[in-house]
Amino acid sequence: MKIIHTIKELREWRKTAGTVAFVPTMGNLHAGHMALVREARERAQSVVVSIFVNRLQFGQGEDFDRYPRTLSHDASLIEHECPHAVVFAPDEKELYPHVIQQYKVEPPALQDELCGAFRPGHFRGVATVVSKLFNIVQPTVACFGKKDYQQLFILQQMVEELNMPIDVVPVDTGRAGDGLALSSRNSYLSEAERAEAPRLYHHLTRMRDAIASGERDFARLAEETIEDLVRHGWVVDYVETRNARTLKPAVHTDHALVILLAARIGSTRLIDNIEIQC
Ligand code: PAJ
Repeated sequence: MKIIHTIKELREWRKTAGTVAFVPTMGNLHAGHMALVREARERAQSVVVSIFVNRLQFGQGEDFDRYPRTLSHDASLIEHECPHAVVFAPDEKELYPHVIQQYKVEPPALQDELCGAFRPGHFRGVATVVSKLFNIVQPTVACFGKKDYQQLFILQQMVEELNMPIDVVPVDTGRAGDGLALSSRNSYLSEAERAEAPRLYHHLTRMRDAIASGERDFARLAEETIEDLVRHGWVVDYVETRNARTLKPAVHTDHALVILLAARIGSTRLIDNIEIQC
């Protein structure tokens, strides 16, 4: 496995890399990320995993400064899963040499809904850095997790509308044994918060089962979830059922749905979602 820090060196390597499957990350890798790396391994001659904590997608007062930076640990996980992978780990000056990024990629109105309503500018920051990384890595395939469902949707639309010649591959959410979606932010949880955290997935499966057996009062189901979470100390940003293909609010005739939620416990904000075919 090779670690590359500069755009120049990455471009040099790219000339002879053949087809490239790309996994963009912010590091602090876990088994969820590794599923993306395994998927990438199967899809192209070469694999690039980028590790870059992108300031542009963090809001004021969010966790940019305390986001865990664990490059050598990350590199050993990647080495184990995919010894021929290239890790692209630029520093901030390499990706943002002018300090302020003046050209930005502006996603459509969906960027202000769901997570975007609570993290203004977040998806603009994501779309911008992913475009930059795509231009540098020039992948044929890019793997993204369904864990960040809205991000995946926005990036799929970006690739399509901006005619980027890249196959976007969605990868299922990796979970701990108790259902908690794996996330770099789980490391912020205290022991008590970690024990409480699977309640999110519990409610997603409860709502899924109710909808699958015919329930169509999405608002009431969400209300029950919110009440129970609040009772257990959570601050809930949103619980919403949406059309899985369009991410528009669900109507009762939809057959492909997704329930998305975001909630905070202590100082940690967690997100999760579940798809439903009905
Ligand atoms: P990060 O949170 O590090 O996630 C990197 C990729 O791993 C994303 O595609 C995310 O959806 C996926 N992922 C995270 N947890 C997962 C899990 N439990 N199961 C499956 N996939 C999982 O998402 C970002 O970084 C950034 O926004 C980025 C796209 C790199 C742009 O900065």
